[in-house]
Amino acid sequence: MLAYLNGQYLPRSSATIPVEDRGFIFGDGVYEVWRAVNGRLFETDRHLARLAFGLRELRIAAPDIARRDILEAVADRLFTESGLLDGEATLYVEITRGVAPRTHQFPPVGTAPTIFAMANRFNPPNDVRSRGASAITAPDIRWLRCDIKTIQLLPNVMAKQAAAERGAMEALMIRDGVVTEGSHANVLGVIDGVIRTHPLGNLILPGITRAVVLEIAHALSIPVHEAAFTERDIARLNECFLAGTTADVMPIVRVNDQPIGSGAPGPITVRLFNEFRAYLDASCAAASASP
Ligand code: PDD
Repeated sequence: MLAYLNGQYLPRSSATIPVEDRGFIFGDGVYEVWRAVNGRLFETDRHLARLAFGLRELRIAAPDIARRDILEAVADRLFTESGLLDGEATLYVEITRGVAPRTHQFPPVGTAPTIFAMANRFNPPNDVRSRGASAITAPDIRWLRCDIKTIQLLPNVMAKQAAAERGAMEALMIRDGVVTEGSHANVLGVIDGVIRTHPLGNLILPGITRAVVLEIAHALSIPVHEAAFTERDIARLNECFLAGTTADVMPIVRVNDQPIGSGAPGPITVRLFNEFRAYLDASCAAASASP
């Protein structure tokens, strides 16, 4: 598999970074993950806007790959040479503050950021989707800037591992009694026909899938209330689902071994998944039709 590192294309096994990279030493960087269908990126601009926001907040100068034309050129080459022009794939892009002797403060002005990208085959978890997935709850021990997509993911890693050890797909993270989001997806619930989800702000990542799903819900006249639900509310959810680049819309049918609603994927979740999937395919197909 091919990788992109600081302007070069090389086999992934040869793509190495110096040990003083601030991503390695401090987790000092940001990342993005795009979904792609037949070599075309989904929601290119929204992911780029989030990336630009993260770079601004961390005061890392935006490198060329944060521009749409450069990103698409890198993606094209990675997809082409990795045999990913057909079917489903993801594109991962990471930017760190670069390589410098270890001091907590920023390195000297002019230190070049490290830029890394790779493409991977993606197999949507459709079997789990048709049955519905299970989740656990876990304390949300993250910092207070969860709106920045930083590479510091240790709380997410620990939460996901706790879920995996209990045979669950996701951990619903709880802060001050409230469900914030999952370890790598947003969380939405349905109570009495109304979709509920944590509002945007510093406590969650502004998920692109979440945004698209809420737009679809509006278009379908499904009521949405961007208000968090609590850990105690979980017992009275009629439906629950994840929204994320690698989850699409994923029904959660059990939380901590207790069924959600009927214990099967609910009608609003199934409808939103079907509409989302159609939109994902159509918008990637439209991207390939444009010059
Ligand atoms: N994660 N919340 C968190 C904490 C996430 O890490 C992600 C995505 C999301 C969903 O965002 P989006 O719909 O834009 O993918 C929400 C990526 C996929 C990852 O870490 O692999």
